[in-house]
Amino acid sequence: MLASALIILAASLANAGPSQVNADVGFFDPTANGGSWLDNAGDGFGEPMNVVISGLSSPDVLTDDGIVNFAQAIGFSIECLDIHLGAPQSANLGDGNGFVNQTIELREDFGSAGIGTCLESLVGGDHFRVFRQNGSQANSGALFLAVSKEEDIFESHTIVPNGYNIGRDELVSAAVGTTSFNDVTYSTTSETLTGVMPAGTAGVNHNISIDGNAILLTVQID
Ligand SMILES: *[C@@H]1O[C@H](CO)[C@@H](O)[C@H](O)[C@H]1NC(C)=O
Ligand SMILES: *[C@@H]1O[C@H](CO)[C@@H](O)[C@H](O)[C@H]1NC(C)=O
Ligand SMILES: *[C@@H]1O[C@H](CO)[C@@H](O)[C@H](O)[C@H]1NC(C)=O
Repeated sequence: MLASALIILAASLANAGPSQVNADVGFFDPTANGGSWLDNAGDGFGEPMNVVISGLSSPDVLTDDGIVNFAQAIGFSIECLDIHLGAPQSANLGDGNGFVNQTIELREDFGSAGIGTCLESLVGGDHFRVFRQNGSQANSGALFLAVSKEEDIFESHTIVPNGYNIGRDELVSAAVGTTSFNDVTYSTTSETLTGVMPAGTAGVNHNISIDGNAILLTVQID
């Protein structure tokens, strides 16, 4: 009886996939409560939310101003002169809020906060949309980022081939370690959330294949 209980326990542990992750690691898996790791791009497809800023990060990182400052520390800025190419996207993070529009969109600034994002609009680069998991059913405070690498404006801001995986990996490389902006210094660690999304193109915007992984970043202000 004990043995079979242990076997059942072992089996359930073996099945403990990403849906087991919870607030202990700073976010809830959106699919555990009716949400998705893909946002809604408005055309029947979605972009992967392939980076999560853990809710266990310093609280000041998780505010709107805080994520903008952190983004600037890793080479992003707010959009150039409010030029918005494309409608806002929405996401259901399984927190009881249903679909909610992105709170903000940030673009790579090419080393010149302010002017740089204008350059990004012209020549392409990395950008990301931010969604906050703060509904009462999964109130982790984590930020889910849909990161991608785009073609230039002459290509109508489409995503480059493999642009979701590449954009994610470029952002993570820029973020991990010590960074600073406006006298705020960040220490950032990463962990791969393997296979939280199905690998491949199913449901993915622009028919671009993804590897199915997301990266969890924990950002501490020193
Ligand atoms: C998102 O914003 C657009 C444009 O402002 C609006 O039409 C749409 O209803 C919003 N969607 C959600 C889910 O709030
Ligand atoms: C949850 O996050 C959204 C989007 O940033 C924000 O508009 C809203 O005020 C937040 N809700 C609470 C209860 O903090
Ligand atoms: C998606 O791309 C694959 C090749 O990678 C192609 O076979 C398929 O037809 C494309 N699907 C759509 C809907 O464009």
